[in-house]
Amino acid sequence: MIRSVNWLGDCLQLLDQTKLPAKEAYLTTTDYRVVASAITKMQVRGAPAIGVAAAYGIALGAFEFSNVNLAQFRSHMSVVMKTMAATRPTAKNLFTTIERMESIIQKTSDTCLLKQALIEEAIKIHSEEQSATQIISKLGANLFRDGDTILTHCNAGPLATAGYGTAIGALIEAQRQGKNIRVINTETRPLLQGSRLTAWELKVAGIPFKLITDSMAAYFMSKGSIQAIIVGADRIAKNGDVVNKIGTYMLAVLARENNIPFYVAAPLSTFDYDTPSGEFIPIEERNTTEITEIYGTVMTPEGTEVLNPAFDITPTCYITAIISEKGVAWQGKNSI
Ligand code: MRU
Repeated sequence: MIRSVNWLGDCLQLLDQTKLPAKEAYLTTTDYRVVASAITKMQVRGAPAIGVAAAYGIALGAFEFSNVNLAQFRSHMSVVMKTMAATRPTAKNLFTTIERMESIIQKTSDTCLLKQALIEEAIKIHSEEQSATQIISKLGANLFRDGDTILTHCNAGPLATAGYGTAIGALIEAQRQGKNIRVINTETRPLLQGSRLTAWELKVAGIPFKLITDSMAAYFMSKGSIQAIIVGADRIAKNGDVVNKIGTYMLAVLARENNIPFYVAAPLSTFDYDTPSGEFIPIEERNTTEITEIYGTVMTPEGTEVLNPAFDITPTCYITAIISEKGVAWQGKNSI
C-alpha cells in the first residue's frame, strides 16, 4: 500500500503530493507548523489524509513544550489547534480530528500523560482510517461488475486517505478480486489530482485506465462508455448532500441524465451530522494563480479575474448510494 502519511516514532513523514508523479519526495518534520503548512499547500491532501496528518501535527505541537504548567500547556495547545483549523476549511476529517484531540486535552490534567495520550490518539485515528477504508474498498468493489468501465474524479485513493483509499480503494479491490474493470479518470483542473495522482495510483495498481479532460465526461457518458461513477467526499451533510472536488456536481447531474449509478465512498470521519445540508458547508476558495498559471507560467492576459472554489455541493437526490465502513446507504432506502 502507498503510504502518504507515516509516523516514525518521533517525527512525521509525508509523501509530498505536489511533486508527484515526477518525484517521490518525502518531507520529514517534528514541527506542527510545517505540518499545517503542508496541509495548506496540499503536500498532503484528501480529506482523510488531512485528518490523519493534522492529528500527528497536533501531537507534535504538544511535544514542543516541556516544564510548563497545565494552564500554559492548554493555552499553547489552543494556538496549535487554531493553526491546524485554519489550514483547509472544507474537509470535515480535519475538524473531526481537532474535536477528538481537544477532548483528550480536556480529559487529562497531567501534561506528561497528556502528551502520551495525544500521540496515542493520533495513532488510533490513523489506524481507524486504515480499517475504515479497507472495509469501504470491499463494499465498494461489490458494486462493480466484471467488464465495467468506471469513471472517477479527483483523487480518492491511498494517497488521499493515509489508508487503502475510498473510491480508488474500491477500484483496486475490484481488480484484486479478479474483476475485469477499466477506469476513465478526469484530469481534475486546476491542480490535476486526476492526471498526476489517480493516474499514478492506478498505474501502480496495474488497473487499465484512460485519462480524459474534465469537459469530456458528458461525451463518454452519452456514448454508453461508462457503467458507474465513484468519487470520494470532503464533507457529507446530515441530509446526505456531498461536498467534493469542484466538478463532482456536474458529473452527478450528467450521471442522472444518462442513467449511470453515481456512488460516493467516504469514512464516517467525513460525515457532518451537525450541518443540516450542503449549503451550510464552507467551500474553500483557493489562490487564483492556481488557474492563471501552470507551473509558474502565466496563461492568461494580465488582470484576468478568476473564481476558484475548490469544491462543490452535490444534492443528495443525485447520489445512488453512499458507501461507508458502516455499510451501503441506498438513496431512498436506508441512511447512515
Ligand atoms: O483538494 P483536495 O485534493 O484535497 O480534494 C480532494 C477531494 O476532493 C477528494 O475527493 C476527497 O478529499 C476525498 S479523498 C478520499
